[in-house]
Amino acid sequence: MYSLLMQSSGEPISISNLRRHLPDTIRVTEQTLKRWLVMHHQRPVARLGPVDASPTTRPPTLTPPQVVTVTHLRQHLHSVLREVEVGGRDVVITHHGNRVATLTPVTPVTSASPATRAPQGEVMSVSTQPIIALVSLKGGVGKTTSTLHLAAVAAREGRPVTVLDGDSERSATHWANLALKLGPLPFEVIETDERTLITQARDIRDRGHTVVIDTPPNDRTLLMKAAGIADHVLVPVAPTGIDLDRLRGTLQLLADTGAIGGRELDVAILLVRFAARKSLAREAQDLLRDFPILDAKVRSLKAYEEAFGSAPLFLEEYEVVWKELVA
Ligand SMILES: Nc1ncnc2c1ncn2[C@@H]1O[C@H](COP(=O)(O)OP(=O)(O)OP(=O)(O)O)[C@@H](O)[C@H]1O
Ligand SMILES: [Mg+2]
Repeated sequence: MYSLLMQSSGEPISISNLRRHLPDTIRVTEQTLKRWLVMHHQRPVARLGPVDASPTTRPPTLTPPQVVTVTHLRQHLHSVLREVEVGGRDVVITHHGNRVATLTPVTPVTSASPATRAPQGEVMSVSTQPIIALVSLKGGVGKTTSTLHLAAVAAREGRPVTVLDGDSERSATHWANLALKLGPLPFEVIETDERTLITQARDIRDRGHTVVIDTPPNDRTLLMKAAGIADHVLVPVAPTGIDLDRLRGTLQLLADTGAIGGRELDVAILLVRFAARKSLAREAQDLLRDFPILDAKVRSLKAYEEAFGSAPLFLEEYEVVWKELVA
């Protein structure tokens, strides 16, 4: 059920994976007394452990623990984690009235040092810009469309953004070149290949840019490099039999990439060309229930087909995707 989660060595877990697998992670924590380090952009923000972990392993915090249900945690994960990280506050998680796990700060805040505690709501460290990779072994699923739309969403948020075009067909580059006639895209598109991808992605991110990587279908090496360097890996899939069939191969390759790199990848599936009322779409959702699928969906719309060669303007669906993926 939580294969992507459990295939890794176990301890570090990203915020997005925690949210996507929340009930399972809590159950594993409760039943096996497993401890997790909750990571945000590869920075530890909190510890998740069994209920009795907090009082015995470290001094109590000044503030009494907050008690939240698993459902509340899923809905308000970011604010709860911030309360733990910045407010230095323990959080006890309950399920059906039973205490099942605790979230505790990574650096214990002791009662003797209240002055070191940051005011609530203040962010203590500057997080780096994310690298996002759009991948699928299957062609024509919406990787380039999703890349350009997500880049446009990030740019609209005021972030400097660079798209790395890793597809030798250069669809993203053609899109950008065509757009020049009407006015440039609100982000840069740069060509890359399997030799230079990792260095380029790191350098551009280090210059403070959000990086979105478009990849070709059926290129396992480039897929693994893009996924290996990315903070978030997004796999677009249309609700058709053949697309769903090919998804397993992509997910297996991603699991191998995570295992080789010794870290858990943050993988999310995005349903695109989605028509809620079609039975195939419902079947797809059922079939994918056990996979890390985003709640956000992208419908099949003319606006996406017509966007090629111009700045993406219909962004409301990809805004929701962006929030769920990166926020
Ligand atoms: N949500 C959508 N609704 C309607 N059409 C879409 C949608 N997403 C993509 N398309 C269209 O589907 C086609 C394939 O999309 P796109 O080029 O983004 O896929 P791709 O995965 O990058 O393909 P390739 O593997 O060949 O690089 C394009 O014509 C695009 O306009
Ligand atoms: Mg493409």
